[in-house]
Amino acid sequence: MNNNPAVVSLALDDPTAGRATLTRFMNRYRFALQEIATRIDILKQEFETTHEYSPIEHVSQRIKTPESIISKARRLGVDLSLDAIREQVRDIAGIRITCSFTSDVFRVASMLVQQPDLTVVEYKDYIEEPKPSGYRSLHLIVEVPVYTSDRGDRVCVEVQIRTIAMDFWASLEHKIYYKYRREVPQRLRDDLLEVSEDIKRLDAKMERLHREMQQRKVDDFE
Ligand code: GTP
Ligand code: MG
Repeated sequence: MNNNPAVVSLALDDPTAGRATLTRFMNRYRFALQEIATRIDILKQEFETTHEYSPIEHVSQRIKTPESIISKARRLGVDLSLDAIREQVRDIAGIRITCSFTSDVFRVASMLVQQPDLTVVEYKDYIEEPKPSGYRSLHLIVEVPVYTSDRGDRVCVEVQIRTIAMDFWASLEHKIYYKYRREVPQRLRDDLLEVSEDIKRLDAKMERLHREMQQRKVDDFE
């Protein structure tokens, strides 16, 4: 039995199993993430080999540690049992896709959403409606089927899709947020909000240039 408090409290519903229970619990998310990552990689490779460019620029993924699962469950007021956590903490597995252009964000999202064995359980468009901080991104929570030796299961994965510019903003904002221990001075908040507007304009301009360039290719061909 592992004495790490996080392991113990995550296995609260089965204290005798402990480590094995936690391993099974975490495995579901690792496998679900692999499933989604493979699907995204297939799209990326398909575009790279058969089209002029890929709407997917970069992909990164992470699994929350048991410690961070527990602290999120506490923050949300979720019971610390594996069942409650499975039901209510839906971003244990997360994947982030960065795209060059805003239209690509929605294109990639619709390619995923159309896959018949994926269920979209949440769709939050913070591009159309940014968060009060100025945060822009498209967030999906999808349920993906995972088959192990003795069962089939559906597991939630959070998919964040945004442009390179939105990602640049989010990573700086994240650093500032932690630097100031969540108490960001108003002046910096105002600046971040302004930059978020700049990014919206920049993305729109880049999209226009991109379209013009594509149109030109078509004209040249004809
Ligand atoms: P969580 O409890 O983290 O799930 O927050 P939520 O459900 O209120 O928000 P949402 O699911 O929309 O966003 C979750 C994730 O999006 C976070 O873990 C961050 O990665 C990212 N995110 C959301 N808001 C911000 C923000 O204002 N700034 C940055 N940098 N990232 C954000
Ligand atoms: Mg969330």
